[in-house]
Amino acid sequence: MPSGVILWQPFSRSLNLITGSHPLTEGIDELGRSAESELATATSVAEIEKWRTQYLGANGKLKAFMLRLKDAPGDEKPMLGRRLNELKSQLEISLEARKSTLAQARSSQGPSGPSIDVTEPGTMLGKGRRHILSRTIDEIIDVFGQMGFAVADGPEVEDEWHNFTALNIPEGHPARDATDNFYMGEQSGVKRLLRTQTSTVQIRAMETQSLPLKVVAVGRVYRPDTHDATHFSMFHQIEGLCVERDLSLVDLKTALLQFAHAYFGKDAEVRMRPSFFPFTEPSAEVDMKMCIRGQWQWVEIGGCGMVDPNVFTALGIDPEVWRGYAFGLGIERIAMRRYGISDIRWLFENDVRFLRQF
Ligand code: DAH
Repeated sequence: MPSGVILWQPFSRSLNLITGSHPLTEGIDELGRSAESELATATSVAEIEKWRTQYLGANGKLKAFMLRLKDAPGDEKPMLGRRLNELKSQLEISLEARKSTLAQARSSQGPSGPSIDVTEPGTMLGKGRRHILSRTIDEIIDVFGQMGFAVADGPEVEDEWHNFTALNIPEGHPARDATDNFYMGEQSGVKRLLRTQTSTVQIRAMETQSLPLKVVAVGRVYRPDTHDATHFSMFHQIEGLCVERDLSLVDLKTALLQFAHAYFGKDAEVRMRPSFFPFTEPSAEVDMKMCIRGQWQWVEIGGCGMVDPNVFTALGIDPEVWRGYAFGLGIERIAMRRYGISDIRWLFENDVRFLRQF
């Protein structure tokens, strides 16, 4: 029901108590009902005017009823007359209400639709941006791309061969413990797990590509670590692998230094500290000296080494002919240090108030 329309209330119920049901009484009720319902469907000035003439005009229906009053029984005439006058006032009120309802509807729509306040300031559209980690990954890949590395890829759900065996991590090695890995059950008799390192892509690259090769692979790795400011059960690594006939530690350090200079600036430095990884011999931890809030500091960002001959042998590559170097760096480490982010969890909570800063 449109607002502002007053529905006709039949009067005859109370009238009948006194007068019985005179045909004129019922006619008045009926007239009231049809007048109100027709008015409710009038949607233009012309339709309203037509309705007014039809019901309230000098030759209208109400007037016609007035003229018929003279035929009513004498004692009922005053009551019927009063009733007709009430109906007339009632319809006049309804007419005004309908007019103002339509006028309101028109003004809120404007001449041809919703009205627009052209002076009202618009809604500012927030400019989207890529996640700080995605940007860091793109930048790092870009640098290695310029250094001649192609991009390789591998699955996040791995088998034990790629995550352990081919990487010289034999059965029974503590790195395979159920508590240190997300095992995902078996598929066709092969145990599956979420990869714990991107070194898996080294194996896949050497299995599928011809030598020599020079690749980097970026991706997610998973470890069942308790979340705190520096640990998260999923993070990103960039893996590098170069296999050629003649390579040495000098080539490895040169590659890491070139990257550091290109990414952190010409004053950046690289330090390699002896360490152990099953798939490299010798192995080292990689530190890079980067500028953090105006101060140059050493930051440990990953591991590296010369590809272990056992890895080559497992893949049918002759270690007497081929040499390789490899490295794996933590993307979050790099981004957090570079941008002064002190809690790794912020990178994955996706709170735009945090992300907007970068
Ligand atoms: N995969 C190692 C880790 O996740 C990092 C690493 C060390 C990668 C030495 C390498 C490497 O390629 O040669 O801790």
